[in-house]
Order: sequence, then C-alpha cells, then structure tokens
Amino acid sequence: MTTTSAYIESDKAQLHPLQHPSRHAAPLVIERAEGVYLYTTDGKKILDGMAGLWNVNIGYGNTELPEVAREQMLKLPFTSNFAGMTNVPASELAEKLSGYAYPNLKTTLFTSGGSESNESAFKTAFFYWQRLGKKDKLKIIARTSAYHGIALATTSATGIGRYHTPFGPQLPNFLHIPAPNPHRYEGSINEGETVGQAAARALEEAILREGPDTVAAFIAEPVQGVGGVIVPPDDYFPLIRAICDKYDVLLIADEVITGFGRTGEMFALNHWKIQPDILSFAKGITSGYVPLGGMQISDAIREAIWNAPEAESYMHGYTYSGHATACAVALKNIEILERDHLVRNARTSGEILLEGLGTLTEFPQVDNARGKGLICAVEIVKDKATRTPDMATANALMGAAMNAGLRTRVVGNALAFSPPLTITAEEVESIVQTMGDVLVQWNSK
Ligand SMILES: Cc1ncc(COP(=O)(O)O)c(C=O)c1O
Repeated sequence: MTTTSAYIESDKAQLHPLQHPSRHAAPLVIERAEGVYLYTTDGKKILDGMAGLWNVNIGYGNTELPEVAREQMLKLPFTSNFAGMTNVPASELAEKLSGYAYPNLKTTLFTSGGSESNESAFKTAFFYWQRLGKKDKLKIIARTSAYHGIALATTSATGIGRYHTPFGPQLPNFLHIPAPNPHRYEGSINEGETVGQAAARALEEAILREGPDTVAAFIAEPVQGVGGVIVPPDDYFPLIRAICDKYDVLLIADEVITGFGRTGEMFALNHWKIQPDILSFAKGITSGYVPLGGMQISDAIREAIWNAPEAESYMHGYTYSGHATACAVALKNIEILERDHLVRNARTSGEILLEGLGTLTEFPQVDNARGKGLICAVEIVKDKATRTPDMATANALMGAAMNAGLRTRVVGNALAFSPPLTITAEEVESIVQTMGDVLVQWNSK
C-alpha cells in the first residue's frame, strides 16, 4: 500500500496553482469525501468550509452525477461542437439556461471554467462594439480586489497586485476603480454620499475620464470572493446599471462564484433586481464534479453575432465548448439544486453562519463578519483601534483551524467560509464552534 509520504514525494513532480514551495512542503493528500467532509490518506476528517474552491455546491458523494456521466460517456463522451454539429446534452442545457439566470440572457457559449468565460466576455464585448462601428471601445473597467481568472486578459482584469507583479506588465486597456467595500472604501466619499454612491460615482468618473467612446465594458463580481468576500451596499448595483446604460458600456457580471445558488439567489444580481448584458459562470454549474463554464449574452449581442458577414464571423470558442459529458452532468446538477431546495438552504444556513461568525467579533482580532447566503468571511486585524489588516494572523488561524478539522481560506485579510449548499444547521454551528475554539486558544497564548 502506498503511504501518505510516498504520495507527497511523487507530488513534487506537480506544479501546483499559486505555487510556492514553502506552502506545499507537506500537502494534505485527500483521498475521498462525503457530504461536507474531506478525508485524507492518513485518516484526518476535515469539514470543507470552502466547498473545494467555492464550487462543490451539492456537496461530496452524490451518486446521481457519476451515473449520468457514465451513461453519457458510454453513449457519446465528446464530439465537436463547432459550426455544423451539436450534441444532445449541450442543446438541452442551452435551452434550460435560456433566460434562466436573467430573462434578457438567452444565448450561451460553453467553456470549461471561469477564466475562459471571462476571456470570452471581453472578446465578445470587443466584437459587439466592432460590429456596431464603435471601433475604439476597447477598454475594460474592473475593480480593485477583483478576481476574474488567470488567463492573460483575466489576470489584467484582476485587481489584486500579487497576481500581476511576478509576470511583468499587464495588458493595456484594463483599469481599476475602488471596490464598494463598506468596511474599507479606498476611494473618496463626498459629504452626504453613501459608500455605494461613491463607488458608483467612481465608475462614472472613470468612464468620463477615459472617454465613453473608448470603454467597452465594466466587469464586476456581485460579491467579490478571492478579494475578501466583499458584499456591496444595496444601492450600488442599481446605480452601476444606470451608469452603464447612460454611457453605452456593457455590464459583465462575473458570477463564477455567486452563480448557481451560493448567495441565496440562483444568480446574485437578482438580489438587486438588475440584469447584466453578459454573464460569466462556471464552478457551481457542475458542483465541480467535472469542469464546465459558460458565458451568456443579451439579444442585442446575439444579433450582432448573427448578423455579421461570413468573413467577419465570431471566430471564438473552445475544443470543449459544449462538452457532452460535462453538459449532461450540469443538467442533473441543476435538477438537484432545484429539487433539494439548495438555494433556499444557502439563504437560511447562510443566515445562521453569518450570525454565528458575528459572535466572533468579541475577539480582538476579528474586526467584522460579512456575507450573503453561504459566502461569508471574518476580517482579521492587528487590533480594532487601528484596524491594520493582519494577514500573518489570518494565515496562522487558518492553519490552526485546519489542525482542528476545519478548512477555511485566507482572502485578503479575511478568513472565508463558503461550504457546500447542502450543509446542515448543526454543521454550520460546528464551523462557528471550531473557529471560536481556535480564537480562544490563540488569545490564551
Ligand atoms: C469570480 C471568479 N471569476 C473567475 C474565476 C476563474 O475561474 P477558473 O479558475 O475556473 O478559471 C474565479 C476563480 O476562482 C473566480 O472566483
């Protein structure tokens, strides 16, 4: 029998995402998982408070998805979905998703993940404005602390410096405005203005400064994930929608994390009753059982693609766009999300989680607790008087939580909690209990 140390040794041949050797000297080797729990090869049981990477929405150990995958693989694992061919699951999934997230988005391009979806969104925005004769509309406005992926353009749209500096200069034409962080807004706030109004004004000012004729799109996560679980004030997105309309700027919603139920709505901009022009999704559409993502477009954009002359066709798409097996799994996964009322559970369990995390603010390191549905975080500071962000303590607390059997993740200077949407109230309470115990220990040192 291979031992854990042998797996760790053989794993040295792997270049891991976000690699630094100091972080990967002795990785946990995960062997299996069930419900919300991971099990390691050396017998540890860990509550996965991150649902993998914010994506295992229906939890681990589901047997329906593997059955569907097996059947589809035996029938037709994959076929080209390029012009002139399609397959049954891709066409059924496209129909299911037509108008599903937002009534105005009826057409889907499938991808294999979030970065591909956002890359597609940018290229589609550029294509659209080219077709309309507005050839200078080539800039993308994003926000600080945004995470939009790891391909070249999506890295440039990402607003976290660590992802940029090791790779040299970023692409031109990507700029950032302050995120609507109610706990630490970095922009200017005029007298009488709310943070939401100030952050929306930052968009209008950026568009005017750059020139509306040069701005193709504004991209935003409804709730920023990797940047620290930033929940915008309620007045923000309606103002953003109005500004985008006023200046002919497309609104791209990056719902790679928030899509498919995580925030307690199937798609998060529904909290604020607005619709984007382009939607990116991935992660939760298959709960991570197989890779799949996608991008949806408004009818106006669809028309631009449909009406383009042959020589100027929309020459974009991936080998795995509309992957038959992945699409079959997605259809079953969505059926489960609906049938088992997991979006409702995200809302109700999310309320319990947020309330519980709120009690941790009694500790000197925990500045605030925030969240929407089952995407929550506590912000870690050196002390509450200065509110200096304390990444070192956040990392140490994450390690201590892992030792105590709870997986969380440091995002910015916060600890994130984004468990499977199947989580029970007792399991939510055990997250809070474990974190509380870890903080008691930390403060008794
Ligand atoms: C909001 C958001 N957009 C895009 C991505 C990139 O997705 P992927 O890693 O599937 O390329 C992520 C990944 O975490 C994300 O959180």
